[in-house]
Order: sequence, then C-alpha cells, then structure tokens
Amino acid sequence: MDWHKPAGYFERVLDQQAFGALILLLALDADAYLGHCKLVWSPGYPGFRERGIPEIQDLNVNRSRRRRGVASRLLEEAEARIVKQSRFAGIGFGLYADYGAAQRLYIQRGYVPDGRGVHYHHEPLPPGATCTLDDDLVLYLVKQLR
Ligand SMILES: CC(C)(COP(=O)(O)OP(=O)(O)OC[C@H]1O[C@@H](n2cnc3c(N)ncnc32)[C@H](O)[C@@H]1OP(=O)(O)O)[C@@H](O)C(=O)NCCC(=O)NCCS
Repeated sequence: MDWHKPAGYFERVLDQQAFGALILLLALDADAYLGHCKLVWSPGYPGFRERGIPEIQDLNVNRSRRRRGVASRLLEEAEARIVKQSRFAGIGFGLYADYGAAQRLYIQRGYVPDGRGVHYHHEPLPPGATCTLDDDLVLYLVKQLR
C-alpha cells in the first residue's frame, strides 16, 4: 500500500469483521493487492450513525494501479451490499489536495454533501472556528441508492 497505515491495521479490521461491524472489500490481481475499502455498518460520524447510513471508509488503490477503474469497482460492490440494508450510502473526504481524486470520483458517482458542513473529529465546526487542515477535517456525502 502507498497509504501509510499503522502496524496491525488489517488484523484489527479482520477482528471487527469477525464481530460483524464491517466488511472489508479487497481488490486483488491474482495475489497482488490492488486496493481496498471498508463498509462500516454503524460509523463514528453521528450524521450517518443516527440515520442508519452505512459508511464506505478507507478507500485506497495502489498508486501504480490507479485510473483503471479499481476504486469504481470497489464502490460498486460496496453500494450493492449497502442497498440491501439501506436506501443511502455515506462517504467522506478530506479537504486538501491529496484527496482531490476522491473528491472528483465521489461527486461523479452521485454522492452529494449531506448538508451539515465540514466536521473535525466528527464534530461540526461553527462559523469562525479555526482548525488544522488534516485528515480529520472531513466533508461527508451521501448517495441515494434506491
Ligand atoms: C481516490 C482513489 C481511490 C481512486 O482510485 P482509482 O482506482 O484510480 O479510481 P478509478 O480508476 O475508479 O477512477 C474513476 C474516476 O474517478 C476520477 N478520478 C480518479 N482519479 C483521478 C485523478 N487523479 N484526477 C482526476 N480525476 C480522477 C476520474 O473521473 C476517473 O475516471 P477516468 O479514469 O475514466 O477519468 C485513488 O486515487 C487513491 O487511492 N487515492 C489516495 C487515497 C485516497 O484519497 N482515498 C480516498 C479517501 S477519502
């Protein structure tokens, strides 16, 4: 993976999957890792959790395999699983340029902002607030699946 994850990331994800908290979707080419995402049934962001909206998280595609439709295929599979449980799928992106590809991809796939403004560590930011532009400053989006 090109995206740094703490040691033990996949072990923890598999533990959570064993408890039914999430589904890990892996894109593979034979044994080679292409990318992955998680489908989280009861996410930490209250705007999704309180409305029963599952969230697609941690979408990542190996840098050398990008722009070949891998992320689109992962999202398609995640949405196909979510639609059996929920009318809406949720997703979020960071606001700095590293998230530029994800910002374009999600909006092109029909995800629209959930209307609650940006959040920092899952908390809404009031007008005039200051915060650090890092991975925890997130705009959340939803897509109506049915
Ligand atoms: C975002 C990411 C997952 C996209 O993966 P991918 O497999 O390259 O995406 P796809 O090939 O399915 O792209 C589908 C469409 O999204 C848009 N898109 C994807 N990457 C783009 C880029 N770098 N610039 C502009 N548009 C882009 C395009 O419209 C693309 O269609 P096209 O290739 O026919 O023009 C990948 O760039 C990535 O891992 N980024 C780093 C991690 C990250 O930001 N994850 C998201 C966390 S919120």
